[in-house]
Amino acid sequence: MGKLDNKVAIITGGASGIGEYMVDLFSREGATVIAADINEEALEAASEKENVHGMKLNVASDEEWKAFAKNVKERFGSIDVLVNNAGISSEKPYTDINVDDWQKMLTINGFGPFAGMKHIAPYMAEQEKGSIVNISSYTAQIGQGFNHYSASKGAVRAISKAAATNFGNQGVRVNALFPGIVETPMTTTLSTSKGLLDQLVQATPLQRLGQPEDIAKAALFLASDDAAFITGAELVIDGGFSAQ
Ligand SMILES: NC(=O)c1ccc[n+]([C@@H]2O[C@H](COP(=O)([O-])OP(=O)(O)OC[C@H]3O[C@@H](n4cnc5c(N)ncnc54)[C@H](O)[C@@H]3O)[C@@H](O)[C@H]2O)c1
Repeated sequence: MGKLDNKVAIITGGASGIGEYMVDLFSREGATVIAADINEEALEAASEKENVHGMKLNVASDEEWKAFAKNVKERFGSIDVLVNNAGISSEKPYTDINVDDWQKMLTINGFGPFAGMKHIAPYMAEQEKGSIVNISSYTAQIGQGFNHYSASKGAVRAISKAAATNFGNQGVRVNALFPGIVETPMTTTLSTSKGLLDQLVQATPLQRLGQPEDIAKAALFLASDDAAFITGAELVIDGGFSAQ
């Protein structure tokens, strides 16, 4: 028996990195998985997997979210899980960031999860049950990476708590994950700098970087009925880095 048997799960950014691992794990646990991403080429590969359906979605678009949510509901009958995972990053220092950089980052990373909850939660509320997991970042909790990326992840932290209180009485749970540095295509640039990588590992109590499975397994727990009484929670997954 799988932890997500008979559930329909949407994973945004499901074509790469953490999202790609979640797609595989959730489908192994019995879910029908919709991998939603802007990268159509990668989605084609995802769609070849059993119980996985790749669907194009730009999370920054309110209109696309609206049509996507209706489409998923009509095609699959229910929407039980939403993981707002799609995102972009930047290591630009604050002195170089302009208003266009800010708006792009906050629109994809902040408005994206907001619009996802806005359009998906009402369908979950009709079913009186649903679980939303938002992927923030450890940069939303401690003074790391003072730029528009940390601001966007702070937005995810705030809207997750607000949504948990808003949708709780409709049976919809909302929780947030706060990964540390995870080895994915997003952090490839970091990984090529061996010195920086070594420093980060040394500065982490558990003495390693995160892997996509570390985040995916926590998302699976929060998505599943094992977490039936958990909403508004914040789970840091960073090997103890931010505990110092
Ligand atoms: N990798 C890390 O160290 C780390 C740490 C903390 C938080 N996170 C967060 O985890 C999430 C996943 O990161 P990852 O490392 O797997 O990155 P990744 O770059 O491997 O994957 C991100 C995915 O999001 C998709 N995407 C980007 N913009 C999109 C849009 N507008 N609409 C739809 N899809 C879009 C990309 O096509 C890609 O498939 C992100 O929200 C990221 O901020 C990552």
